[in-house]
Amino acid sequence: MTAETAVKTQTNANLPAGQSAEALIAFHNVSLTLGGNEILHDISLEIARGEFVCVVGPSGCGKTTTLRLIAGLLHPSAGRVTFQGKTVSQPRQDVAIMFQDYGKALLPWRTVAGNVSLAMESLGVPKAERPDRIHELLVKVGLKGQDKRFPNQLSGGMQQRLQIARCLAQNPSVLLMDEPFGALDAMTRQALQDEVLSIVASTGATVFFVTHDLEEAVYLGDRVIGLLPHPGRVAKSVPVNLPRPRDQLSSRETPEFLHLRRELFDFIKVAEA
Ligand SMILES: Nc1ncnc2c1ncn2[C@@H]1O[C@H](COP(=O)(O)OP(=O)(O)O)[C@@H](O)[C@H]1O
Ligand SMILES: [Mg+2]
Repeated sequence: MTAETAVKTQTNANLPAGQSAEALIAFHNVSLTLGGNEILHDISLEIARGEFVCVVGPSGCGKTTTLRLIAGLLHPSAGRVTFQGKTVSQPRQDVAIMFQDYGKALLPWRTVAGNVSLAMESLGVPKAERPDRIHELLVKVGLKGQDKRFPNQLSGGMQQRLQIARCLAQNPSVLLMDEPFGALDAMTRQALQDEVLSIVASTGATVFFVTHDLEEAVYLGDRVIGLLPHPGRVAKSVPVNLPRPRDQLSSRETPEFLHLRRELFDFIKVAEA
């Protein structure tokens, strides 16, 4: 046993059964009832620091609700959601959220630069420091030279790039993404998938990514979690052992990718039956 494993084992010995020292976010027997309906039932789940977790499941199974619990926008009726071991009680500045209806998430009366600036204003970044940082972020997400345009002058893909820039302006340690690329065409979607992977590789951010696209889940994730509805519960958790960096063509042609794709399609087929 190496010294490192010895320390880990020792630390784990002090934690409740089933909890590992590495979990950044954890659901401990979480249930949620809204308007008399049990939306989520007894969810236990751990997300390690730096892990990219994708969540799939039929419409209405509780994917968005689960994400809102992590964000501190909703609170469990039973059980706890923890961040670094402490109960999540309100939204945190180092947790950025990207919702599916991106058109509505941007302020139409603010320019591209103004929308990115907003996140910095609420963080209290001094005015003098904002322009350089905004420029750097816009270059990073492929929106160089677009700073003076308004959201309605941008394509869907560009609006979504802007949302990514706005999230990154928060310097988040966690990205919560709710079907962010659902409305985009296939080519734009793939370009943005790779953008997110490269950002995550360079920042080490932890990601909770909801999608209804099973191939997207396998392509992006370190792990794919499958939820089932009525009430929402975790029914599947599969590790994705595809090497990184991933490649849109070769990663998707590997036996591992095809095997996982089949496993998830079978899961969804049964879930929707
Ligand atoms: N505020 C609410 N009050 C009552 N029911 C809700 C509320 N929000 C969501 N639900 C219900 O919870 C279930 C899960 O919703 P949601 O998390 O949005 O599913 P998903 O994102 O997987 O499609 C759905 O049946 C939805 O109708
Ligand atoms: Mg949803």
